[in-house]
This record gives sequence, C-alpha cells and structure tokens, in this order.
Amino acid sequence: MSKKYLITGGAGFIGSHFAIKICELGDEAIVLDSLSYAGNLENLNQIKNSKSFKFVKGNICDANIVSEILSGQKIDSIVNFAAESHVDNSISSPGAFIETNIVGTYNMLNCALQYWKSLNSDQQKEFRFLHISTDEVFGSLEKNDPKFTEESSYRPNSPYSASKASSDHLVRAWFETYGLPTIITNCSNNFGPHQHQEKLIPTIIRCALAGKDIPIYGNGENIRDWIFVKDHVDGIYQALTQGRVGQSYCFGGDCEKRNIDLAYEICAILDDLKPAKKSYSEQIKFVQDRLGHDQRYAIDNAKVAKEFGFKPTKSFAERLKETVIWYSGK
Ligand SMILES: NC(=O)c1ccc[n+]([C@@H]2O[C@H](COP(=O)([O-])OP(=O)(O)OC[C@H]3O[C@@H](n4cnc5c(N)ncnc54)[C@H](O)[C@@H]3O)[C@@H](O)[C@H]2O)c1
Repeated sequence: MSKKYLITGGAGFIGSHFAIKICELGDEAIVLDSLSYAGNLENLNQIKNSKSFKFVKGNICDANIVSEILSGQKIDSIVNFAAESHVDNSISSPGAFIETNIVGTYNMLNCALQYWKSLNSDQQKEFRFLHISTDEVFGSLEKNDPKFTEESSYRPNSPYSASKASSDHLVRAWFETYGLPTIITNCSNNFGPHQHQEKLIPTIIRCALAGKDIPIYGNGENIRDWIFVKDHVDGIYQALTQGRVGQSYCFGGDCEKRNIDLAYEICAILDDLKPAKKSYSEQIKFVQDRLGHDQRYAIDNAKVAKEFGFKPTKSFAERLKETVIWYSGK
C-alpha cells in the first residue's frame, strides 16, 4: 500500500529530490515549505502535476498548519528537511537559525507526538519522524583524524551546526522520553542539481561563466566529503524504511576533496564544455577566510553499508560533470 509522507523543506535542494523520489516510487509527498529565499517551486516542476504530490506553503514553527496536515492528510511518516542551511548566513544573522532549526524542530516534534498518540498501535509502529541533519554537528577533523561515525561527539562550531546539533538532541529526547519513533541522519556536503546559488559548487560555476573572480576561502585547504544529492536521498529512504528507531545514521560520499582541488576540477570540466580564451582556473581568487572555518569533514559509511548496503552509485568525476552540465545549461 502506498504511504503518505509529510516532507518539510521540500522546495529546497535535498528535499525536492526526496519528494520526486517518493512520487516516482508511487507514494505520496505532501510538501510543507515556507518558500524562504532558499525555497524554489521550480525544483518540484517534475511532479507538480502528479496526483501523488501536494504543496502547502507554511512555516514549520506554525503548530496549527503542521497539526492540520498531519491529521487532515493522515500522514504515515514525517521527513524533516526544513532548515536554514547556509553557514555564512548563520554567522551574520544567527536568529533565523535558532527559530527554524531549533524552535521549528521542537514544534514538529510536539505536533508529531500528539498526532502519533492518536494513531492505532499498528500505525504507531509504522510511523517515523526522520530528521535530516549534518556531519557539521561533529565539529572539525584534523588531517589524520579518523572519519566521523555515529559515535562521534557533538562539537558544533558555527551557529548553523550548533542549531542543527540542538535539533538532533531534541529529536533524540523525544524518542527517549516519549517513545516517538525517530531516526536521525547526519550527512556530508551534498552536490547536484537544485542547489541554491549561494553554495560553493554553484558559486564556482556561476562566477567562472560570468568571467568573475571565483572566491575560495583562506588557502583553499579545507576538506569536504562530497556526496551526490540523489545518493543521499537514496540513503534517507533506506533509513526511513529499514532503519531502527532511536538510531542515527551517517552518510558520506567517500570522497574527500580540498576546496581548491574541487575548484580546479570544475574549471577543467568547464574548459572542455565551454572553452574560453584562458582556463577558467585563472579566475580563482583566495578571499578572507570564513570565521571559525572547520578544517575537515569526512564520514565513515560503515554502519549504513552494513545495515542498508549503502554506497555512492557512480564516481565523483561523473557526478560532478553531470552537475556542471546542469548548472551551465541553465
Ligand atoms: N546541503 C547540504 O550539503 C546538507 C548536508 C547535510 C545535511 N543537510 C541538511 O539537509 C536539510 C536540507 O538542506 P538543503 O541543502 O536542501 O537546504 P535548502 O536551504 O536548499 O532548503 C531548505 C528548505 O527549507 C525551507 N524552509 C526554511 N525555513 C523554513 C521554515 N521555517 N518552515 C518551512 N520551510 C522552511 C526553505 O524554503 C527551503 O525550501 C537541512 O536540514 C540541512 O541542514 C544539508
């Protein structure tokens, strides 16, 4: 039987890919999104006419809207993507991060718990509150440190990661205290179509093609573990359908890259796709480093590989090329 999912933040980057996957599987996607600057209904064009898709404009901090959707639509499970997601914005304006990421998650949990209590015992067993989080909650790794795992300590450094860490703690507490069947996923840096232009990969491509400086923070040595967004979405679905309640699951791309190397790789792809007089790499410019810039993130996929057979589907080079083609064709 098909399932009905409440997908918050589904007009954003990762949530839109998840909503599309749910409709493709023949399940129903009810997207709740406030359409902040980061939300874009065009991300959902592929499913906008599908009978399995419904969009509700609203804020996850609004208990009336959330409760109305849960009982009105008879939701089977919730996947909570909605968040303020850009670290730089969290440094300049942390308030919105506290509001959406912490208060919003608290509101979602409260509404979910009330709704869950109203379900019969079979429905209660099947219900999931899946909370989407980040590896940034674990802080920063040195070059030779072992990768993050589900057992890593929480050591958030930015207002963004601190707000996500807080939300993870709330989700855990609603499981431990009230028995709400929650699962948390902590993922590394995503890339692919639909990402907001403020993020690193779209910025590199946009600036390169516009003939502008390509800004790289500090000395470009910071390392991120890049995962293709559709691989992450597959992992989220595995956690939702096969994961154990009360657990957290880390997903990474098994692909650590220094920011400067990533910029060179993108420029090399563009040099082939859209040759200019000089290599785009000549536009790379180091700029003042981000405050408190984490040095390295990397995820050990051992738990999700063992429990779900999770692994990235194609090479980073192939996925990066697809991504560059998507952005440069827009
Ligand atoms: N992008 C990454 O690399 C990455 C990595 C790991 C985890 N995550 C997590 O995944 C989730 C989604 O990230 P993303 O990159 O797709 O973000 P995004 O910024 O692209 O999308 C966020 C969406 O949430 C919506 N939103 C914001 N505040 C809202 C509110 N108060 N009520 C309802 N909707 C609201 C926005 O309109 C937008 O559509 C976030 O929780 C983020 O922390 C992201």
